[in-house]
Amino acid sequence: IYRIQELLNSGEGYIGQTVTVAGWVRTVRDQKNLCFIELNDGTSFGGLQIVVEDKIGNFEQVAKTNTGFSLKVTGNIVKSPAKGQLIEMLHEVVIIGQADPEEYPMAKGVQKPETLRQKAHLRPRGNFFSAVTRIRNNLAYATHVFFQNNGCLYIHTPIITGSDCEGAGEMFRISTIFDNDISKIPQIKGKVDTAQDFFKKEVNLTVSGQLQVEHFCISMSNVYTFGPTFRAEKAHTHRHLAEFWMIEPEFAFADLFDNMEAAEGYVKFCINYILQNNIDDLQFLDKRVKPGLIDYLKDIVSKDFVRCSYTQGIDILLKAQQAGAKFENSDIKWGMDLNSEHERFIAEKVFQRPVFLYDYPKEIKAFYMKVGTDDGKCVRAMDMLIPQVGELIGGSQREERYDVLAQRIKECGLKLEDYGPYMDLRKYGTVPHCGFGLGFERLVMMVTGVENIRDVIPFPRYHGSAEF
Ligand code: 4AD
Ligand code: MG
Repeated sequence: IYRIQELLNSGEGYIGQTVTVAGWVRTVRDQKNLCFIELNDGTSFGGLQIVVEDKIGNFEQVAKTNTGFSLKVTGNIVKSPAKGQLIEMLHEVVIIGQADPEEYPMAKGVQKPETLRQKAHLRPRGNFFSAVTRIRNNLAYATHVFFQNNGCLYIHTPIITGSDCEGAGEMFRISTIFDNDISKIPQIKGKVDTAQDFFKKEVNLTVSGQLQVEHFCISMSNVYTFGPTFRAEKAHTHRHLAEFWMIEPEFAFADLFDNMEAAEGYVKFCINYILQNNIDDLQFLDKRVKPGLIDYLKDIVSKDFVRCSYTQGIDILLKAQQAGAKFENSDIKWGMDLNSEHERFIAEKVFQRPVFLYDYPKEIKAFYMKVGTDDGKCVRAMDMLIPQVGELIGGSQREERYDVLAQRIKECGLKLEDYGPYMDLRKYGTVPHCGFGLGFERLVMMVTGVENIRDVIPFPRYHGSAEF
């Protein structure tokens, strides 16, 4: 069975050959002695035009197929006389699965993303979500290509962990059903331990693989992890999920500015990869979802990203406010944590391209960030802010000095004994190192122009919803 993408991309390479394809019907046009079927197998945005002549045995049934039927078709590839279609295929059609047009929602026309969110099985069947899915796939692929080409090792960090990397207390604690009420399940009573008994400690789903990936960085140099992460955030925004994927590289013998350079190179590599490999999907999204998307992406890769310190950022916001800009949170002052409206203002209105904001007050950042030289008020943190999306990346140079880190852990109200191996990294052959975390769904949002994060992940999990 040939992939339709391969046939469409082959130009005239397959003309004259007999091939078999299999996929799902998008549209059927029935004329007297002919019927035209657009068959799509998900491998490309466009489908293959199948011309079926009434000389085949089951013409009647084939002509009556509808959106959603699954078919296997064998025929000859011929040059299409119609404009814009390179290849058509002639007959022999096996109907595999049916889809009653009275019942099948996709047969009734385009469905809204909000409706589809509740119906997981329908999502990839339409143009919108299948385009997003192909781009998502290629962004994951480009991620591995980029880091592998740059000599980084892929480290699989654990999903079950006892640590809270960000110290934000947004962890999903793991328990078994036996934690709830053992007496209700008498037949299995006493047979299984609670999660805490099982691991001999309390554990949670990871909020970040950073602390673990640092262990490998301090001996294997440049490494990265790419996996699911979990945050029990009750945020109902267009950019928060409870389960999302994160890419976290960690670089040895490197500082904050090396970190920014790597992050910029990585994001640009991903965008270029999609511009080169998903142009049909981008054209559809440009037309239907975000007008100007392709030009916007080309613009991003053609310019340097901005580097702007937190202190400069606050100045910019204050000056904008004096000039009449309105913010919901209008109490702008040095030391505050920036809201997404502030972040977006800086990226969207002021610079109109991605911006690294760096050197943040230590009070609003995590314990592991390197304390800077500016009287120790700031840490060497960086966030990459993107127009429309807001924060795409959070990263930092790590505190590699044992004593300073021990002090920070205490200041942050954490227990030193919980960080034994992490502290040992600073005891034996410590080196300056840095890294960042990129929220994969936010990257997909940026590249597809999709506004709601729930529409760029196959099975979104967020406060109040975990469909299927
Ligand atoms: O800024 P964060 O919390 O940084 C870390 O977790 C660091 N340990 C990363 C590191 O240095 N290795 O999260 C990193 C990124 C954010 O910039 C954002 O893109 C994404 O993860 N993110 C979320 N994406 C979707 N839903 C959520 N609830 C997210 N929380 C963070
Ligand atoms: Mg952050």
